[in-house]
Amino acid sequence: MYDKVPTGLDRKETEVYRRLDPARLPKHIAIIMDGNGRWAKRRHMPRVAGHRAGVTAVRSTVETAARIHISALTLYAFSEENWKKRPKSEVGFLMSLLSRYLKAEVPTLNKNNIRLEYIGRQHELPEDVQERMAWAREATARNSGMVLTLALNYSARSELVDAFQSMVNAAAQNGGIEHLHIDEDMVGRHLYTRHLPDPDLVVRTSGEMRLSNFLLWQLAYAEIYVTPTLWPDFRGLHLLEGIAEYQKRERRYGGLNHGDGHAAFETSAASEGKS
Ligand code: FPP
Repeated sequence: MYDKVPTGLDRKETEVYRRLDPARLPKHIAIIMDGNGRWAKRRHMPRVAGHRAGVTAVRSTVETAARIHISALTLYAFSEENWKKRPKSEVGFLMSLLSRYLKAEVPTLNKNNIRLEYIGRQHELPEDVQERMAWAREATARNSGMVLTLALNYSARSELVDAFQSMVNAAAQNGGIEHLHIDEDMVGRHLYTRHLPDPDLVVRTSGEMRLSNFLLWQLAYAEIYVTPTLWPDFRGLHLLEGIAEYQKRERRYGGLNHGDGHAAFETSAASEGKS
């Protein structure tokens, strides 16, 4: 139906892409990458092998998203809870994996015109990792295509706490908190995601039906797509399948389905004997 297929998609991706309506692609996709540990366990490998394989999935997903011109992709790479509750050795491995990923990936990000951003309490991460993150962000800062945001040491509740604190601080410096008037736009401007529109679609891998403290404010109206695929097996093709599912849904934002308003009126009018 749609002939123009972006360059770089493989045969299977092209097949799924042709079923999509390019005018209704989600602008912002958020992904909860889950199942690395289970992937490794099934292969009798250590958990860290699952994380290593997860990097291949990150690469494929990021490249496909950029190729089809998604404006923003946000990946939940590392939660605040991961940081506090996992063995030090696993956390250390994830940190060094992230550092190596950033170093290796900057040329590909630049080739695909991708700008890198982060959300989360970065100041709590090891200093060498923070330096590498700042370097990679700076090296991609002039790209004008997709924004790739990595959630690192991220917690939605901490983000909200930080936003409230930031609003109070800003008001205190600007005439005092007695003049503070909070509305939804103002909260949005103080969140870590102030550079992004709210996600239209959130994908979770490995079959779990939870948001796990991810973007709780921003996902208020997002479509949720859960796939049984474990993260290390996830590829651009699976992302396109998620988008196909998203396009089958009708988004209502608390309103009525197209046509339902009329039907509801007719029903109530009929019950009042006015039809
Ligand atoms: C969840 O799997 C995944 C993580 C906690 C880490 C995600 C990290 C990567 C995909 C690799 C590095 C990322 C980047 C951006 C370079 P899990 O360990 O919770 O899996 P399980 O639920 O099966 O135990």
